[in-house]
Amino acid sequence: MKKKLIAGNWKMNGSIEANDALVRAVMAGLAGADCIAAVCVPAPYLSQLQVLRHGSALELGAQDVSAHEQGAYTGEVSAGMLKEFGVRYAIVGHSERRQYHGETDALVAEKARAALAHGITPIVCVGETLAEREADRTEEVVKRQLAAVIHVNGHCISEIVVAYEPVWAIGTGKTATPEQAQQVHAVLRSQLHAATPHSERVHILYGGSMNAGNAASLLAQPDIDGGLIGGASLKAPDFLQIIAAAGFSNA
Ligand code: PGA
Repeated sequence: MKKKLIAGNWKMNGSIEANDALVRAVMAGLAGADCIAAVCVPAPYLSQLQVLRHGSALELGAQDVSAHEQGAYTGEVSAGMLKEFGVRYAIVGHSERRQYHGETDALVAEKARAALAHGITPIVCVGETLAEREADRTEEVVKRQLAAVIHVNGHCISEIVVAYEPVWAIGTGKTATPEQAQQVHAVLRSQLHAATPHSERVHILYGGSMNAGNAASLLAQPDIDGGLIGGASLKAPDFLQIIAAAGFSNA
């Protein structure tokens, strides 16, 4: 069975001092962890966190990547630049970027392509809003979001990570039940299965108020291969408990 993947998404949080303390505490508690662990940090801190370069027990990730290679794109950070800093994962299409920065399915697919071209694993986020769930449109929405990425990256789709993050569960303390999450993960798995013979290889993460208390029951679901953790990744004891839950549920 593949190891679970627990990725922290620090979002726009941190400081040089706080990052140092957090990473030290997480690294100190990682011994014996039976999963892949990563933190996706704000771009300015990539150079501070070079101790986490690809290959460390805690992998380094970014929260976004440009769809472009280089040039006149003020404010953007390219996949090539991230690669120079040992970045292993890049979140693409997080709902906060779709919502506040107008990212479309097509742009998210291009960002995934740019990451893959540089050997960075895109963590492709999909998820429905509360209104979409209440209108019974969850399946349609997540399938449309993933289809765009498959359309552009079909030949290497088994190299991506997918994160199912119901928008109504992000930062709200409301978590999808393990059954609700599994239901959507099964839909995504079968969509991947139709696109690649290696769909079992793809990690499908759950994200949205995952914490030390609910991680084990979510991670016990057959198609939940890990978590994308926001708030709880900023506290070392909480993040480590989720990592431990991933190890136990694998045993
Ligand atoms: P949360 O965020 O764990 O704070 O809900 C998850 C995410 O947005 O990736």
